[in-house]
Amino acid sequence: MTLKIGWIGCGVHATQMLLPQLVRHDVEIVALCDIDGNRLQSAGRQFGVQTLTNKAEDLINTPGIDAVGMAVGPDQHLAFGKMALERGLPVFMEKPPSGSAAGARELLAASEKSGKPLLVGFMKRYSAGNKIAANIVRSGQFGSVLGLTGYYMTAPGYFVGNVDYTGFFLHHCVHYMDLVSFLVSPVSKLTARKVEKEPGKVLFHINFDFECGAIGTVAMGTIQSRGAPVERLELMGDHQRIEVDNVIEVRWNRNPPFKVDDPQASLVDGVDSLTWKPNFTAAANEDPKGYHSLLADVIPALQGKQTPAPTIADGVIAMERLETLRRELDL
Ligand SMILES: NC(=O)c1ccc[n+]([C@@H]2O[C@H](COP(=O)([O-])OP(=O)(O)OC[C@H]3O[C@@H](n4cnc5c(N)ncnc54)[C@H](O)[C@@H]3O)[C@@H](O)[C@H]2O)c1
Repeated sequence: MTLKIGWIGCGVHATQMLLPQLVRHDVEIVALCDIDGNRLQSAGRQFGVQTLTNKAEDLINTPGIDAVGMAVGPDQHLAFGKMALERGLPVFMEKPPSGSAAGARELLAASEKSGKPLLVGFMKRYSAGNKIAANIVRSGQFGSVLGLTGYYMTAPGYFVGNVDYTGFFLHHCVHYMDLVSFLVSPVSKLTARKVEKEPGKVLFHINFDFECGAIGTVAMGTIQSRGAPVERLELMGDHQRIEVDNVIEVRWNRNPPFKVDDPQASLVDGVDSLTWKPNFTAAANEDPKGYHSLLADVIPALQGKQTPAPTIADGVIAMERLETLRRELDL
């Protein structure tokens, strides 16, 4: 049955990434909300929605809606998430689920009290390359994951004279606080060290100990241009290695023999490396970043079905990890 959704926040991310993918599913956007009148009107026109409001409370009280979606910001996610759950509505929210672990725990409590799910937009789990890597690991063909290495970089996002890394932690780092456990296992210990070239330009290396015994290192920082690829992951196993570059290039290296001295050298199933990258010239849905696939799990979850969509319980873990990271780095 078509899910009737009320949506809060018609900013860049909602209008360019989420809503275009949302409407490919069996949903009807019944009402939209934004405090910016121009954005609200523009989103109404783009997605054919007539009921427009600048008050989140009114949106949440719109008669006939089955669920609320939102992509606004940390404090609004907490306030509006609780309001919607208290009204008995299931919720999808972009990350971060509030600005703190305590806020995420409040949202978890609100979800449990209302008996309604709160799904969180950790779409890195669904980004094409990460999804392939996770499926290879889960297939049993990879054996144990022994190590994870990777990096996630961005550019300096700060106001001169008022350096504040909060946005970097909440809007960027939180993704990998979730993703590492999706790919490996729960984290038993997190430590980190940093180098700060100048205020606003930081690089840090995070060490993860995983419950399964694996070790991990992820470099993160604000010293790279957003105009070049900024993400890479590698999973290390015994004579196996999966590399994911820029979320869309995958290499699965296994245990090939030397080729140079072998006149019969070939490429052999089950031994040689497998690679994948999408064909961007095809007029087909590649959804490389994973928003469509995330929403394919979120929408049935909003309708009460069990799906693998990330929940606020995952959000609490990621936010607690994020706070451990900030304490470790003293940032
Ligand atoms: N998962 C991802 O890859 C990804 C990428 C980008 C952004 N995001 C998340 O999406 C959220 C929004 O990011 P964005 O880049 O679109 O920001 P944005 O500033 O472009 O959009 C936010 C919108 O919310 C509106 N807004 C602010 N306060 C409001 C209120 N009280 N009531 C109603 N509307 C209000 C603003 O007017 C704005 O239009 C953030 O939480 C961000 O972390 C996620």
